[in-house]
Amino acid sequence: MATYLVDLSPSDMQRRLGDALSVYVDAMRYPRGTEDQRASMWLEHTRRPGWKAVAAVQLGDADNGLHDGAQRSLTEAELATASMLGVAYGYCGAPDQWWQQQVVSGLQRSGADRMRIAELMSSYFELTELHIHPRAQGRGLGEALTRRLLAGRAEAYVLLSTPEISGEANRAWRLYRRLGFTDVIRGYRFVGDPRPFAILGRTLPL
Ligand SMILES: CC(C)(COP(=O)(O)OP(=O)(O)OC[C@H]1O[C@@H](n2cnc3c(N)ncnc32)[C@H](O)[C@@H]1OP(=O)(O)O)[C@@H](O)C(=O)NCCC(=O)NCCS
Repeated sequence: MATYLVDLSPSDMQRRLGDALSVYVDAMRYPRGTEDQRASMWLEHTRRPGWKAVAAVQLGDADNGLHDGAQRSLTEAELATASMLGVAYGYCGAPDQWWQQQVVSGLQRSGADRMRIAELMSSYFELTELHIHPRAQGRGLGEALTRRLLAGRAEAYVLLSTPEISGEANRAWRLYRRLGFTDVIRGYRFVGDPRPFAILGRTLPL
C-alpha cells in the first residue's frame, strides 16, 4: 500500500470530515462521540483567512513507499476512496479568534511585555490540529505533514498548543522539539479545559 501526502481543499475537508475526525478521536484517545461536538468547528475553521489542510492517505497501489502529492496528484476519485491515516490544518491567527485572546491573556499573565505580545500576534500561523492514526504513528508521517503544512507560509511565526506531559515524554513533544519549537507559555489553562497546556512556537520558515 502506498501512502500519499495531499493538500485538502475546503470541499475535500467537508467530504472527508467524518474520516478526519475519526483520526483525531483515535489519535487523541477521546471518547467516541467527540467527533459530533467538533464537526461544526472544523467546518467553520475552513472559512478562516489563510486556512490550509493536509492529509496522509493510503491507496492500494503495489508499492509501500511514501509519496508527495506534489509529484503525483491524486484524482478526485482516488482521494474520495483512499483511507485517511493523518490530518493537519491551521490558519492565520487574528484578534477576533478565541485562541488568540486566550494566548494574549496567558502572555500578559506570564509577564511578557507589550512589544513581545504585539510582535508574536501580528503575524502567525496557528497549527490547530495535527493527528496521525495510532496504527500509522512512528513512521515520520507527523513530521512530513507538518513540513508540508508550513511550507511557503507568509507568516513570521507558527504557534500551537499541546497538553503538558510529564518530562515532555510523548511523540508530539519529541516532534515539536525536533522541529525547533520553543516555549511561549507553559502550564496554561484554557477557559473550559482543566488540563494544563503548553503554547509552543518558532519562527518561519521551518
Ligand atoms: C504527535 C503525532 C502527530 C506525531 O506523528 P508521528 O507520525 O507519530 O511521529 P513523527 O512524524 O514525529 O515520527 C517520528 C517517529 O517516527 C520514526 N520514523 C520512522 N521513519 C521515519 C522517517 N522516515 N522520518 C522521520 N521519522 C521516522 C522516528 O524514529 C520517530 O519514532 P519515535 O517517536 O519513537 O522516536 C502523532 O504521534 C499523533 O497523532 N499523536 C497523538 C495525537 C497528538 O498528540 N497530536 C498532537 C496534539 S497537539
